[in-house]
Amino acid sequence: MHSDGLFISFEGIDGAGKSTHIEALAAEFRAQGRAVTLTREPGGTPLAEKLRAIFLHDAMDGLTEALLVFAARRDHLQQVIEPALARREVVLCDRFTDATFAYQGFGRGFDLAVLSYLEQQVQTVRGQGANFVRQPDLTVWFDLAPAVAAARLVNIRVPDKFEAQPQAFFANVAAGYTDRCNKDPGRFARINADQSVQQVRLDALAAVRSRGWLA
Ligand code: TYD
Repeated sequence: MHSDGLFISFEGIDGAGKSTHIEALAAEFRAQGRAVTLTREPGGTPLAEKLRAIFLHDAMDGLTEALLVFAARRDHLQQVIEPALARREVVLCDRFTDATFAYQGFGRGFDLAVLSYLEQQVQTVRGQGANFVRQPDLTVWFDLAPAVAAARLVNIRVPDKFEAQPQAFFANVAAGYTDRCNKDPGRFARINADQSVQQVRLDALAAVRSRGWLA
């Protein structure tokens, strides 16, 4: 079985139900003897969690939003993700840069070229050999129609800034995920999230198993 560090991100529009599946996958890896770092974006470090609170609840323009989320990501990569990968752990991250392209890019309509530039800068890892841009080894995308997600969000506790957006916003966000998936299909596992929780869980597990990362 794979014993190097593994970086898996989880994506989907609000209401797609990724959180329970991330926990289940963490339990599977741990049961097979792997050390797991369970984390999220924006967040994952004390500084990034402070930025998360501002990001989720304060009104701001698209560029400010993008700068905040990439600042949080930079700290998270340096303090948590890269060290865990160096220890050969499995890093399971609730959202990563695809969310920035989907929400700030396609949702808010912010300049994709600027996001790409920030992605390159923030995610560059300076190794002994050549530098490279860190990306997840796998992105599990819980794909759900915005109308279905909206129905699930109706009963949510006080919604944050994004959860309170209209369905049209989430249609754009979903288009953003489709775009990112089309640009790097090998990295994505697209899961139909409009199924029973048990079936979605099995599909997510199968995506990881098919890559030889779980027995
Ligand atoms: P989410 O991950 O859904 O957490 P919770 O389940 O606690 O609500 O919330 C994070 C929100 O932040 C979500 O609405 C998507 C948004 N977001 C962005 O807009 N851009 C980003 O780059 C990231 C990582 C998240």
